Amino acid sequence: MNIVNVDYDGLIPNNVDLNHDARVKKALESWHPGYIDWWHDMGPEGFQQSLVYLRTAVSVDPKGWAKFDYVRMPEYKWGILLAPQHAERKIPFGAHKGEPAWQEVPGEYRAMLRRLIVIQGDTEPASVEQQRHLGKTAPSLYDMRNLFQVNVEEGRHLWAMVYLLQKYFGADGRDEAEALLQRRSGDPDTPRMLGAFNEQTPDWLSFFMFTYFTDRDGKMQLESLAQSGFDPLSRTCRFMLTEEAHHMFVGETGVGRIVERTCQAMKEAGIDDPADIARVRKLGVIDLPTIQKKANLHFSLTLDLFGNEISTNAANAFHAGLKGRFREDRLKDDHQLEGATYPVLRLVDGKIINQDVPALSGLNMRLRDDYVVDCNVGVARWNKIIEGYGIPFAIRLPHVAFHRHIGEFSGIHADVDGDVLADAQWTARRDEFLPSAADRDFIESLMQPQTEPGKFAGWIAPPKVGIDNKPGEFEYVKIVDA
Ligand SMILES: [Fe+2]
Ligand SMILES: [Fe+2]
Repeated sequence: MNIVNVDYDGLIPNNVDLNHDARVKKALESWHPGYIDWWHDMGPEGFQQSLVYLRTAVSVDPKGWAKFDYVRMPEYKWGILLAPQHAERKIPFGAHKGEPAWQEVPGEYRAMLRRLIVIQGDTEPASVEQQRHLGKTAPSLYDMRNLFQVNVEEGRHLWAMVYLLQKYFGADGRDEAEALLQRRSGDPDTPRMLGAFNEQTPDWLSFFMFTYFTDRDGKMQLESLAQSGFDPLSRTCRFMLTEEAHHMFVGETGVGRIVERTCQAMKEAGIDDPADIARVRKLGVIDLPTIQKKANLHFSLTLDLFGNEISTNAANAFHAGLKGRFREDRLKDDHQLEGATYPVLRLVDGKIINQDVPALSGLNMRLRDDYVVDCNVGVARWNKIIEGYGIPFAIRLPHVAFHRHIGEFSGIHADVDGDVLADAQWTARRDEFLPSAADRDFIESLMQPQTEPGKFAGWIAPPKVGIDNKPGEFEYVKIVDA
């Protein structure tokens, strides 16, 4: 069986030789109808019959892994694709460093490993649920197609995690796979596992911020799981990262195009002051201070996904060889960190200070610091656009203590510079930092669909190039009324 090319004949395209794995094949085939029900219930609303120009993974060869074609989303081929196995791969870090990578679940770490897979798996369908209403207000067919591409691939990522559960975790893996279809984003009784995945994604600026900031948390988590000593998890995550890159591209260019359109409209109208919000809004574009507030919101919600500042779970998962650091294989140290320290921002006597902690306990913060560096790359590109128009404004990420619900700073209020605020000050100033009800209403008022090929809503600039090099007027979605 060719690992690089995928078997497309069966119900479940795969490169894991499912045809010779009757038990897992059967388990996945019996999970499939529930997945399709979930997709119909919770997937993109109103576009299930439409023909969408989607890419489908047909290989794991980095040089040509996808093909593009019109597909009805419920007929999308959600496959199981693992990056190729390296025969001599060793566990790259932790107490077992240098031992051969595990091809089966190490018994002593079974529960910890299952939990890591379930938490990752839970985020995948959650974002599809959060984004399910957005098709109706898409600013163009190009954007609508990108939304649906992200959605079907998050569906595939769910399949990827469910495969691991079904293949390696027996009966409790099957139960977890079922539960992944039962939880619902934002449901008070059966919510998704992590806070940011229970928030709403009510408009397209939120969608782009989500794919920029929150999918990037996904990238960081996948990068550290791609280092795992449990080889099937490593191989799965490596391939998922290939797809994930597009999600962050959608986010970065989406926000960039909004910024571009705003600056353009301001210039045309002769408005130089970015704080002149009322005049800017009259132009039918989103003012820069509101874009900043949305960034503050999504960045801070996403920081919560990295967990507590000091974490025994993170230390244990690293020590066990299950979850590494961001690009562990490129780091130059002993990869065990037993005596090492790492500086972490902490709350001590009501003050935010930097403190050296054992590096193993600080691993969540190390990953979060790497995340912030990665986030700033795209922010700098947004600012280049603003600079190009000569408008005196720069988007910047708020302090990590700002608007937190997890960890040490969840008990205090801080402004975007990290200055601690009394409760009353926070209440009085909250709308300076985060979208107010009026901001949300304004953005919502702009969310009118534009479904004519090649046309874009007035608050967002067209992309520089089309998907799959298609020309501007290409019909990315052929809408069929459901
Ligand atoms: Fe994903
Ligand atoms: Fe994603």
